[in-house]
Amino acid sequence: MASSPLMNNYGHRALTLTRGKGCKIWDDTGKEYLDVLSGIAVCGLGHCHQAVTDAISHQASQLLHTSNLYNLPPQQEAAQLLCDISGMENVFFSNSGAEANEAAIKIARKYGNEKGISTPTIITMTNSFHGRTMATLTATGNEKVKTGFYPLVPGFIEVPFNDIDAVKEHTNNNNIVAVLVEPVQGEGGIRIPDESYLPELRAICDQQDWLLMLDEIQTGNGRTGTYFAFQAYDLLPDVLTTAKGLGNGIPVGACLAQGKTATILQPGNHGSTYGGNPVACAAVSAVINTIKDDKLCEQAKLLGHYFTEQLEHSLKHKTCVKEIRHKGLMIGIELDHECSALVAQAADKGLLINVTAGNVIRLLPPLVISHTEIDSAVEILSHLIP
Ligand SMILES: Cc1ncc(COP(=O)(O)O)c(C=O)c1O
Repeated sequence: MASSPLMNNYGHRALTLTRGKGCKIWDDTGKEYLDVLSGIAVCGLGHCHQAVTDAISHQASQLLHTSNLYNLPPQQEAAQLLCDISGMENVFFSNSGAEANEAAIKIARKYGNEKGISTPTIITMTNSFHGRTMATLTATGNEKVKTGFYPLVPGFIEVPFNDIDAVKEHTNNNNIVAVLVEPVQGEGGIRIPDESYLPELRAICDQQDWLLMLDEIQTGNGRTGTYFAFQAYDLLPDVLTTAKGLGNGIPVGACLAQGKTATILQPGNHGSTYGGNPVACAAVSAVINTIKDDKLCEQAKLLGHYFTEQLEHSLKHKTCVKEIRHKGLMIGIELDHECSALVAQAADKGLLINVTAGNVIRLLPPLVISHTEIDSAVEILSHLIP
């Protein structure tokens, strides 16, 4: 018999965290940690931000749920804020990132079907991550995520990330309907493409009548120094997905459309019992308003530079450090060896970090981290990295 009533999909979890405030979090023994991971890019405003706590408490006292059979003012308000801040036209709310991508994939397929393409195909990237549902794990460019779950969903072709020529090789394939890409690969190891990559993808999609679908589930909501990472360029995607920082800890995702994609989903095509739940949407509005009012995108940009400079300075003599990459407060320190043991060692010293792609230390601190907190994180890391 299993020793826990929980399935073992998360493996052993060493820490029991019970309380958080700002960038600090405490375990069940009262030990304090500096959280430079934000629940994997979720709590961008820090733990238990007052604006979010107030918004969800108020909404919870009014109405928790009605289903999507009825108008929901908090959903309308959150959708309007999201459209205003992104330049997109309309929104489907989901409960997670993977579900937001499922909506994007359905939009791409219906777009293809309506053009008479019966086997629509989406171009995806190596080392990408798009979720754990069957379609999104198929879209994910990491064999580990797929192993054990064959047969996969048809209709995806993988090409190397940051390689425009590899995309161009498919321009004669009449089944292609869309390109799905992360502006910065998070799980893949904080991989930042060339400055020309997204604009060139936009141009190819325009020429080919393909949809450019950006997965900003990790890069969105201020993390990279603009509200969405694509806003550092002069372009708009056809479909945009986000989640994680969108609810600051409340489960919510969104798939946004504009132009020719805004009318693809029609009544009966898609839905979710909980998607766009009023409490989740109250959190979304509080998050967007706080990021705007407190100028957190600009702050993420400045703090990202500061954090990276401090890391570069204190790690400069460490020969095992291959590269330090960052876009805003998405920071990756690539080592020349597997380093997942660092996660427990850092926790021991009171620092919560993550290791991804085997050898990349991933730091995704709250956008509200202070210079002093950054200095402490750098100090701990410089002692731990051999
Ligand atoms: C880029 C990206 N897409 C999709 C997902 C999946 O989101 P969720 O875990 O909310 O389903 C993640 C989660 O890490 C992600 O980083």
